[in-house]
Amino acid sequence: MRVLVTGGAGFIGSHYVRLLAAQGDEAVVLDKLTYAGNRENIADVSHTFHQGDIADPVAVAKAAEGCDAIVNFAAESHVDRSIMGPAEFILTDVLGTQVLLDYARHHNLRYVQVSTDEVYGDIPLEAAPSTEDAPIRASSPYSASKAGGDLQVLAYVRTFGVNASITRGANTYGPQQYPEKLLPLFITNAFDGLELPVYGDGRQRREWLHAEDHCAGIDLVLRKGGAGEIYNVSGQERENMDVIRGILDHTGASPDLLRHVADRPGHDRRYAIDSTKLRSLGWAPRHTLDGGGLADTVAWYRDNRAWWEPIKSGEYRAYYEAQYGNRLGS
Ligand SMILES: NC(=O)c1ccc[n+]([C@@H]2O[C@H](COP(=O)([O-])OP(=O)(O)OC[C@H]3O[C@@H](n4cnc5c(N)ncnc54)[C@H](O)[C@@H]3O)[C@@H](O)[C@H]2O)c1
Repeated sequence: MRVLVTGGAGFIGSHYVRLLAAQGDEAVVLDKLTYAGNRENIADVSHTFHQGDIADPVAVAKAAEGCDAIVNFAAESHVDRSIMGPAEFILTDVLGTQVLLDYARHHNLRYVQVSTDEVYGDIPLEAAPSTEDAPIRASSPYSASKAGGDLQVLAYVRTFGVNASITRGANTYGPQQYPEKLLPLFITNAFDGLELPVYGDGRQRREWLHAEDHCAGIDLVLRKGGAGEIYNVSGQERENMDVIRGILDHTGASPDLLRHVADRPGHDRRYAIDSTKLRSLGWAPRHTLDGGGLADTVAWYRDNRAWWEPIKSGEYRAYYEAQYGNRLGS
């Protein structure tokens, strides 16, 4: 199968390009190369590359020509950045999705939208994990933009008969994740002896899903998912402080580096999703955070300073200062 992988130079998209190549499928990558895109992530994997914006119909048409399917990973993906500036999120996550759907509609392509468990919003501690029919209650500009993309997908299925499905994955971790998200931020700060800024009491709960398991779920949905169907891709539920203690253990960093800082505005306490539907298609995760997933991820960052050190000295410095400067009193 020839698959257009949008956002294929980013974190999860690059793992998917690797999966396609390993299966003997053909990957065509369309990526704008924002701060989060890095061609090095797929330098050793067979693919065709187009630099361009998913919100640009000309760029999409050029890249998608001859493809059988589109899997849309391209997004502005970081909640904190969406609080600093929501507009870019609407342009890519909503408008960009609609442009891709138009192409799929007019060229009869299979389409998978890579979405997030964050669209279900805050799940009370005592509540059961959300199934796919739970209401959308997005809390952040990021999750609202992803929810907007999901609604476009469902509308294109119903109105135009597009053969599209949605996956809603949990917090994803693994090699090559840009060091703004919790795991790579704390791992790389720990290696550099820098403070570890914990939002609020750190007792927020998330499900942790390895990038390879996430991609396996997405690929299964591409091949076996139904039109208009949504599939949750769940992970292992953990309190943030447990994960952070695990990072201290695996990096050998001192707990003295921990700083509890002002919480993220609107911060959801818990995400929890039920993936029975995807499991019934045959999906089963191969990694767990405590069964080696965290240790292997820490080891990857230990062995690949040449990947993350240049990132942390560029545009990242201004972002980090704006996000954590006041919080850390630096
Ligand atoms: N990271 C997670 O924990 C997680 C969990 C569930 C779902 N998701 C979803 O998975 C997808 C991938 O997430 P990620 O963590 O790999 O993100 P990422 O930020 O690492 O990568 C996003 C990629 O998209 C590209 N991109 C951004 N805007 C673009 C545009 N307008 N046109 C073309 N390319 C553009 C970037 O250059 C980058 O390569 C996103 O849709 C995200 O919402 C992520």
